[in-house]
Amino acid sequence: MSGKVVVNRCMSLDGFIAGVGHSMDWGDGRSLADFVAPDDLAEVAAATGAMLVGRRTWEVGERMKEEQPDGTDYPFSGPMFLLTHRPLEPPDPEVTILAGDVGEAVATALDAAGGKDLEILGADVAAQCLQRGLVDEVLVYLLPVLLGDGIRFTPPGLARTALEPLSSTRSGEATMLRFRVRKQSR
Ligand SMILES: NC(=O)c1ccc[n+]([C@@H]2O[C@H](COP(=O)([O-])OP(=O)(O)OC[C@H]3O[C@@H](n4cnc5c(N)ncnc54)[C@H](OP(=O)(O)O)[C@@H]3O)[C@@H](O)[C@H]2O)c1
Repeated sequence: MSGKVVVNRCMSLDGFIAGVGHSMDWGDGRSLADFVAPDDLAEVAAATGAMLVGRRTWEVGERMKEEQPDGTDYPFSGPMFLLTHRPLEPPDPEVTILAGDVGEAVATALDAAGGKDLEILGADVAAQCLQRGLVDEVLVYLLPVLLGDGIRFTPPGLARTALEPLSSTRSGEATMLRFRVRKQSR
């Protein structure tokens, strides 16, 4: 059986998934893992079988690893697929590079997830997937901060997308919101 395709994000109350300059500092150097209960993060990571990541998200992740080599933001290990038009320098044997049709990329990554969920990371990539009706669920960790400016949940241009609320739970200082994407009701 196939897993779900999930857009999984932490987001400020005013709708930003990163700050200005792609900063992932949610206040006083705090990362997502500093806000969410570790068990909840571990549960979501355990349900995840693969990730499909946009190139800018990848680059922000690499920058964060350089700045905080011991940072453990998310306890996931599994197949990683990177959507990009450019090769990685140096190449990374741990990641599979995909380009072109986002539907084919999602199918490839979902297959590799082995029946678990596929996480979609990146505002642009998530918008492409939502636009194509490829997303089953949206999971948002709502963080108790107003950023004022930064990277929006999706770039401008996404058509209205109806969502069905599934759950809303407090986790540490965050609120976890789950929605099912209503695929037929745009
Ligand atoms: N808060 C959170 O939980 C969370 C989660 C994920 C990401 N983020 C943030 O979101 C921001 C990044 O989002 P973004 O919208 O700027 O970029 P993105 O979606 O991560 O990456 C977009 C890039 O991916 C490549 N790409 C996308 N679709 C492609 C396709 N079909 N074929 C080949 N390449 C493709 C292109 O790069 P090239 O053409 O240059 O190769 C494109 O410019 C970062 O600040 C990141 O930290 C936050």
